[in-house]
Amino acid sequence: MLDPSPDLAAHFPELQDQRLVVDYEDADDPVLLRPDGSPIDTWRENYPYSTRMPREEYEVVKRSLQIELLKLQYWIKDTGGRVVILFEGRDAAGKGGTIKRFTEHLDPRGARAVALGKPTERERGEWYFQRYVNHLPTEGEIVLFDRSWYNRAGVEPVMGYCTDEQYERFMRQAPLFERMLVDDGIVLVKLWFSVSKSEQRTRFLIRQVDPVRQWKLSANDVKSLDRWDAYTEAKVKMFRATDTEIAPWTVVKSNDKKRARVEAMRSVLARVDYADKDEDVVGEPDLKVVGAAATLLE
Ligand code: ADP
Ligand code: MLT
Repeated sequence: MLDPSPDLAAHFPELQDQRLVVDYEDADDPVLLRPDGSPIDTWRENYPYSTRMPREEYEVVKRSLQIELLKLQYWIKDTGGRVVILFEGRDAAGKGGTIKRFTEHLDPRGARAVALGKPTERERGEWYFQRYVNHLPTEGEIVLFDRSWYNRAGVEPVMGYCTDEQYERFMRQAPLFERMLVDDGIVLVKLWFSVSKSEQRTRFLIRQVDPVRQWKLSANDVKSLDRWDAYTEAKVKMFRATDTEIAPWTVVKSNDKKRARVEAMRSVLARVDYADKDEDVVGEPDLKVVGAAATLLE
């Protein structure tokens, strides 16, 4: 049984008198139920499919794409390539969950996830990009950033963690910084996970009650419920300033977590011409779910 915390309850007036239950049949992707047993299906909001990807189909597709990711990794090791994938999006959009599936079967010696906390005092005195530069890949490596330098285009200005001047400088420097990375031969993929407003709220509620997800619910998450529009505005400005030809954004509609995960994998694989690629498995990304920033704004 779930009683929303006072903080969360204020954001769910329609739910305050109800006791909710979480259905863990698919423990990986639990569903919130009303007292009458009907599912809260906020994932449908603006979603291009009327059903979520079934678990059986997901397992098969995910496994075959994970095999392709391994081929990509072997190829990168063989050729000394460097790959950087940014996982960005609002809180609860599914960044961490997708990274977990990306790395599940990769050789950890050549694939690293980087999730940096708030900057230290020392880091605050450095060039903003400096602490991220420290984590860039060497030859043969794939680095997955769970949040990235784009904190300064979203959470930092919205929560007041940076000055206007720092924000403006970031917006000017980010395309230049990324140009240097790409120019140096780094494959840079920027994924934006897009979750709808009511689905985000549902995911926060599930986080609160599911013991294995409670650590994911931060004070910032609760605050972000009131700042939906500010985050939207920040996102639009970010796309305008940083969706460049050499480092474009790919938007992944992630109200259906399983489709989002497999399509994110597919869109990374589709961009690289690695050895032994199975075109039948990789195919083309599903344009209902992934697309360029300009075509798929939330
Ligand atoms: P999560 O990454 O789990 O969603 P939060 O929502 O708490 O975590 O924080 C979002 C991001 O904001 C994190 O990358 C965190 O490091 C960053 N952050 C939190 N507090 C500050 C701060 N005072 N200054 C700069 N960045 C911060
Ligand atoms: C997020 O996007 O905030 C989390 O990483 C989501 C998740 O892991 O499902």
